[in-house]
Amino acid sequence: MNKVKKAVIPAAGRGTRFLPASKAVPKELFPLVDKPVIQCIVEEAAAAGIEEALIVTGARKEAIARHFARDPLLEAALRRDNKTEVLETIERLGRTVKLRFAVQHQPLGLGHAVWCARDFAGHEPFAVLLGDMVCEPGSDIGSLLEVYREKQAPVIAVQPVEWSEVGKYGIVKGKSAGERLVAVEELVEKPKSEPPSNLAIMGRYVLEPDVFPILARQKTGAGGEIQLTDALQELARRRRVYALSFEGNIRDAGDKLGYLQAVVGEALRHPDLKGPFADFLRQAAALAQDPQGRESS
Ligand code: UTP
Repeated sequence: MNKVKKAVIPAAGRGTRFLPASKAVPKELFPLVDKPVIQCIVEEAAAAGIEEALIVTGARKEAIARHFARDPLLEAALRRDNKTEVLETIERLGRTVKLRFAVQHQPLGLGHAVWCARDFAGHEPFAVLLGDMVCEPGSDIGSLLEVYREKQAPVIAVQPVEWSEVGKYGIVKGKSAGERLVAVEELVEKPKSEPPSNLAIMGRYVLEPDVFPILARQKTGAGGEIQLTDALQELARRRRVYALSFEGNIRDAGDKLGYLQAVVGEALRHPDLKGPFADFLRQAAALAQDPQGRESS
């Protein structure tokens, strides 16, 4: 039985939805309180038993590799100042899983970014965790790995979205194959009209190396990019592919609202912040409902 030990984390996109903030700082490094988005994703992979991860970065996104690299000067300064707790956090960064990096020289699309991981994957199955999608605890890659263990077939995480939103996502249609499980029949990236369903792909996949020859031939699709969804549509014609309905919240931190939701979620789980931050949110919510109250008080 094939166990999934590797993960690919594509993080080479342009991040245009977040410009100008993402011009010099990759959106994958935006903080969720005190942790960059991509660190949360690496920790999610580690918690699910992934041993080795390849982060696909862009030509101008070296800061991502720097975040995970050792920094002897910083570590020495923290040691000297007895800042033991933060020192441990810093030392642990690159150690949760064995990290490797590949550069996608041009952001030709998510499908192309995954194709950049073909040598890393070799003959093994691998998880894909998009570098800007953050799962709240309980809705992580672990549930996909369980399905993979049982089915030994590719699995995609999906969630229903509002019908008005389907044009922003890769959309999956299929027939029920068990609790929360769908046997995929059709996949469409960002459907412009007549979407086949409102089940949207949520940035987590478990794939096998048979996707690489398809990706190698994949023509550009939606947005002029080489789309992973299009390659998976071809894969689903050849073999059984499953979609698992994810429970819990997954936030697109590459989108402004999704990022704010992810920050709030993280702050409400943070041991030092959750109390005072919840108080602040209650006040902010009251203000949002009654903006005049602020002026009159
Ligand atoms: P997105 O489509 O959300 O990222 O890709 P983007 O292209 O950066 O976004 P916008 O639309 O310009 O704002 C999902 C993930 O795939 C990576 C991104 O970095 C992101 O983490 N990606 C995307 C690549 O690695 N390479 C690409 O060519 C495209």
